[in-house]
Amino acid sequence: MKSMKTIKVEASKNYEVLIGGGILPLAGELTAKIKKPGKAIIVSDGNVFPLYGETAVKSYKNAGFEVKSFVFEHGEQSKSMETAVRLLEFMATEGLSRGDLAIALGGGVTGDLTGFAASVYLRGIDYVQIPTTFLAAIDSSVGGKTGVNLAAGKNLAGAFHQPAAVFCDVDTFATLPEEVFADGAAEAIKYGCIADEKLFETLLNNDIKENIADVAETCVKIKRGLVEEDEFDGGARRLLNFGHTAGHAIEALSGYKISHGQAVAKGMYIMAKRCGDDAAAQILRALEKYKLDANCPYPAEALAQKALSDKKRNGGEITIVLLNKIGEAYLKKIAVGELVNYFR
Ligand SMILES: NC(=O)c1ccc[n+]([C@@H]2O[C@H](COP(=O)([O-])OP(=O)(O)OC[C@H]3O[C@@H](n4cnc5c(N)ncnc54)[C@H](O)[C@@H]3O)[C@@H](O)[C@H]2O)c1
Ligand SMILES: [Zn+2]
Repeated sequence: MKSMKTIKVEASKNYEVLIGGGILPLAGELTAKIKKPGKAIIVSDGNVFPLYGETAVKSYKNAGFEVKSFVFEHGEQSKSMETAVRLLEFMATEGLSRGDLAIALGGGVTGDLTGFAASVYLRGIDYVQIPTTFLAAIDSSVGGKTGVNLAAGKNLAGAFHQPAAVFCDVDTFATLPEEVFADGAAEAIKYGCIADEKLFETLLNNDIKENIADVAETCVKIKRGLVEEDEFDGGARRLLNFGHTAGHAIEALSGYKISHGQAVAKGMYIMAKRCGDDAAAQILRALEKYKLDANCPYPAEALAQKALSDKKRNGGEITIVLLNKIGEAYLKKIAVGELVNYFR
C-alpha cells in the first residue's frame, strides 16, 4: 500500500479516517481490527457496485465477515424513506443483530442513507464509510450527519450517528465522471472559503488531482475541527452550511436534477455577493476552474420560500453564513423575512 494518512476524530464516538491509495482491498482487514467479524451488509448504488463491489466483498469475506450486498438505483432520488425502509427490511431479513455492521460503499447518497438506516436499525448498529466520490471523502463520510430527503425538502429526516471508521481509497476517484469530481470541488472550495485561504489558493492555482490525498486530508481536518467543537450543530459546525441554505433550496426546486455540488456552488456565489465584491469574484474564478455554474435559475422569492420550509429555520429567525473574506466565515441570525434580500 502507498502512504496512508490517519486523521483521528474525537466526537461522541472516536474513530479514524484513513486516506490513501490501495485502501479498499484492505477494508475488511482494517475493520476486523476494530470490530469482531460478524454479519455485514455492503450498501452501494448501481454505478459503484459493479466497479468496486467485488473487491469490497472479497476483502470483508477474507477478514471473516459474512457478507451480503444491498444495491440501489444511483442518484439523489434514492436518498429517500422508501429506500431506507427497503434497506431496513433487508437488514432484518438477513438477521443482522446489534453487533453487526453496515458498510457504505459509494458517494454521499450511499453514506447518508446507510448511516441513517444504521442509526435506527435495532436503535443503532455500527457502520463503516468507504467513500468513493471526492465529495463523500471530504465531507459527507465524516461527522456523523445521516439522513434522507422528504418531499418537503433536503435531509429533513435524519440522525447523528458517527461511523466506526472511514476508509477513503483515493484510487476509486479514477472512475469518477468529471462533473461528479466537480461536485466535490465545490465542497473543497467551501472549506477554503470558510476556514483556509491557502487551501482556496491551492484549489485555484493547482491541479489538485496530482495530490488529491493531501487536499482531502486538509479538508477532513477542517471538518474534524468543527465537528469536535460542535458535534450536534448548534454553533460553529453551522459554518459548513456556507452556500447550503440556498443550495438545498436549489436542489429541491430542481427535483434533484441539479446535483448537490452544483447547487452549493450557486448558493456560495449568491451569498458571496453579500460579502463584498472581492469574495464573489474570487469564488467565481474558483467555480469556473472546476466548471461549476454559478448562475441560479430560480428567483430569490422561490429560493427563500423553499429554504424556509427547511429545517434550519428556528422560530422567526434563521442563521446564515457569511464571509469576512476568503478563509474567514461567521454566522448571522436574521429574521426569516430578511432572507429573500440575501438571495437577490
Ligand atoms: N452527511 C453530510 O454531512 C453531507 C455532507 C455533504 C453532502 N452530503 C450529501 O451527499 C450527497 C451528494 O454526494 P455525492 O456527490 O457523492 O453523490 P452520489 O452519492 O449520488 O454520487 C454521485 C454519482 O457518482 C457515482 N459514483 C460514486 N462513486 C463513483 C466512482 N468511484 N466512480 C464512478 N462513479 C461513481 C454515483 O453512482 C452517483 O451517480 C447529497 O445527498 C448531499 O446532501 C451529506
Ligand atoms: Zn454540502
